[in-house]
Amino acid sequence: MRIGALTLRSNLFLSPLAGYTNLPFRLTLRELGGLDLATTDLVNARSLLEKNPKALKLIESCPADRPLAVQLFGAVPEEMRDAASYLESIGISAVDINMGCPVRKVCRVGGGSAMMTELGKTAHLVKLMVDAVKIPVTAKMRLGWDDQNITAPDLARALEDVGVAAIFIHGRTREQGFTGSVNLSGIRAVVEAVKSVSVIGNGDVTTCEAARHMIEQTGCAGVSIGRGAFYNPWIFKQTQHYLETGELLPEPPFEERIQVLCRHFELMLEVFGETHGCRMFRKVGPWYSKRFGPANEFNKRIVQLSSRAEFHEILARYLEWRKQFLDENGELKEAYRPMPLVASFMQEPDVTKREAIPVPRGPVEVW
Ligand SMILES: Cc1cc2nc3c(=O)[nH]c(=O)nc-3n(C[C@H](O)[C@H](O)[C@H](O)COP(=O)(O)O)c2cc1C
Repeated sequence: MRIGALTLRSNLFLSPLAGYTNLPFRLTLRELGGLDLATTDLVNARSLLEKNPKALKLIESCPADRPLAVQLFGAVPEEMRDAASYLESIGISAVDINMGCPVRKVCRVGGGSAMMTELGKTAHLVKLMVDAVKIPVTAKMRLGWDDQNITAPDLARALEDVGVAAIFIHGRTREQGFTGSVNLSGIRAVVEAVKSVSVIGNGDVTTCEAARHMIEQTGCAGVSIGRGAFYNPWIFKQTQHYLETGELLPEPPFEERIQVLCRHFELMLEVFGETHGCRMFRKVGPWYSKRFGPANEFNKRIVQLSSRAEFHEILARYLEWRKQFLDENGELKEAYRPMPLVASFMQEPDVTKREAIPVPRGPVEVW
């Protein structure tokens, strides 16, 4: 799989999730395999140029965290260009432009989803960036502002003409937010609108089968996964194996889930320090526990976590408490096993509603 000058070992990508796709999460996922190009949370181009400490923390990386794209947002062409040049100068592999953020604060100044409504202006901004750097410049967008304004195919074509290296397309409109099903024919329309640029499909991919279905139904070159990676950090490895062989790998055993949880926690403390790392882990822990079976005892304490010692104490108590749900082989009894995940576009509409993937709370609740 190629994106501009980058040759990638996987056509599966990590979608930016503001507040979550930080260095510890990316390293955790990379260690499990199947993921190559990952991205940061969205970063304000101007803040980056001003070397704002929060913006610099968002792009914190290390040699094991490669190839890495930084996602920029902003509407001032010169700032976006200079931020892209800066990222290239510090060894970032690709720059992604946020054209999908529906948050009012971002759209009001012409960034995020607002970029999908002004094709000429957006193409000009992207051209300035493409001309300024050798690394690939990619764009991430939704299908359009609303059902009456599905602009993604036209925008994708305009961006291809100015040299964008790939388009990441979330198969929903801005108005839809996270409701309803992902529109595969909308993604297909984007694939068909461009000549040779790679189009990467996105939205609700939570299983290997869903990834394959999206690729088959839309003709997209790869799939980008956001929330699905929270549910299942193994999803990249499992999906890559499934796409290559048609064979589903077994689910990781519970013990491995715990090991990965602990690894993620340690990386969080390494990068953010004990106090802040623990605070940030309060919203990460409950994602792991969604696949643990009964987990009330874990959840109610992890959301108040404040130290490493407490983390280990919570875990030890939880493992004891969980024993009551195990059979004689140490496996979770059937009745307590978590339901298998099904993507919205792979099931009947009434089930879609019931089983919708929760949207994590965070700085951008309306994503
Ligand atoms: C909490 C949260 C934060 C997000 N942050 C970003 C972001 O910073 N930039 C962006 O382009 N998309 C962002 N998104 C959208 C995701 O990248 C992705 O397009 C969307 O979640 C659909 O994919 P998924 O179903 O695989 O999660 C965010 C989504 C969520 C739920």
